[in-house]
Amino acid sequence: MDTKSISTAALNCGDKAVEFPLLHGSIGPDVVDIRSLYGKSGMFTYDPGFMSTASCNSKITYIDGDKGVLLYRGYPIEELAAHCDFLETCYLLLNGELPTQAQKTAFASAVTRHTMVHEQMQFFLRGFRRDAHPMAVLTGLVGALAAFYHDSLDISSPQDREESALRLIAKMPTLVAMSYKYSLGQPFVFPKNELSYTANFMRMLFANPCEEYKVNDTLVRAMDRIFILHADHEQNASTSTVRLCGSSGTNPFAAIAAGVACLWGPAHGGANEACLNMLYKLQAQGGVAKLGEFIAKVKDPNSGTRLMGFGHRVYKNHDPRAKLMRETCYEVLGELGLAGDPLFKLAMALEKVALEDEYFVKRKLYPNVDYYSGIVQKALGIPVSMFTGVFALARTVGWIAQWQEMITDSEYKIGRPRQLYSGPTRRAVVPIAKRG
Ligand code: CMC
Repeated sequence: MDTKSISTAALNCGDKAVEFPLLHGSIGPDVVDIRSLYGKSGMFTYDPGFMSTASCNSKITYIDGDKGVLLYRGYPIEELAAHCDFLETCYLLLNGELPTQAQKTAFASAVTRHTMVHEQMQFFLRGFRRDAHPMAVLTGLVGALAAFYHDSLDISSPQDREESALRLIAKMPTLVAMSYKYSLGQPFVFPKNELSYTANFMRMLFANPCEEYKVNDTLVRAMDRIFILHADHEQNASTSTVRLCGSSGTNPFAAIAAGVACLWGPAHGGANEACLNMLYKLQAQGGVAKLGEFIAKVKDPNSGTRLMGFGHRVYKNHDPRAKLMRETCYEVLGELGLAGDPLFKLAMALEKVALEDEYFVKRKLYPNVDYYSGIVQKALGIPVSMFTGVFALARTVGWIAQWQEMITDSEYKIGRPRQLYSGPTRRAVVPIAKRG
């Protein structure tokens, strides 16, 4: 652990004063190291939702939610989005430094060599219903990789860990595209390794045996940007899931499958799908004319309706990814001649109304990356149900980098939270005949 203990924090636990080291990272809030709390006081901390808990020590991603800052290995997301592509970002997240040209070429070639999946995988995939949600399919496919690639499952071996990381990054586009093609009833398209990582993914999605996919650099760049912006995001729900699942010593394919399952939820990666569905519904109900009614419903605490794509646990000023995704949105819609798209206009109008509304201002609710990523993906031709799969593809590198960091941490332990128990106290079982 590369942190300094700078001083101590004192806590009064009942009638007992207990001191704990205060740890100082390289940037961001200090943390109180409470690992000895139970031993010293017999008490636990209570923090459902992890509002004030640092669950690990990490060197990968830093977020300052109040200032709207996101850094991967110290580099601002805006600079990475402007100067790097997704594979460079993957290399950075995995290795801590941006690659030289030679390193990038070698990394791209290593990833490329793993893009095909075992032929048997398609028979496994064919067991799913055609109308299954792609995230259900993807959760199964990613977990099943462990059954196909047993030769890289020794988590204590650096070579095996690297092999699994490359396999996951390389095979995710193939699996996501396969799940899409399967839902359409079209033949799977094999990877074409002369294309870039992202162009290859788009070709696997959109080509068919009768029609070749024509690579459009603006659209490929937009998809690549979606990947960069979603590549990692500190200890979010799915990453924490991957860490917790992986902390048992399970293999990386199983741990990443757990991350995919977690990401599916509408409060997390499912938000882009939920956001677009919200816009469709609003459009069907009358569009801009009904905005006032819709916002009133969102503000009603009893309605159970949220403005999807708005709000974030950490960002309380702006989501820097949302700004970049908004720019990409304009670029893509311009390239495709869709600037007048009614859904996009509705999204812009809704955003304006929300940003000026006291309810959202007071709660510091701003558009997050998923407010725009759905619109971009829709314009790129990706069906709504595939959005979260694209997010999972991009986040795989973050999950694997975080998993690797945990496995190699000298302080690595299985994750095992405790609880505040409020159920019945000890009582005797009454045999069923006597229970009345
Ligand atoms: N629409 C309406 N009200 C909201 C929203 C929203 N999108 N988000 C938060 N609030 C309100 C909430 O009702 C609460 O109000 P009150 O204080 O009166 O009870 C207050 O704001 C705080 O909300 P919270 O649920 O305690 O905040 P949280 O930090 O636990 O939740 C969140 C964060 C992202 C789950 C939430 O903002 C949300 O559900 N947003 C919509 C879903 C979404 O867009 N998720 C994508 C997140 S970004 C992609 C990713 O990284 O996964």
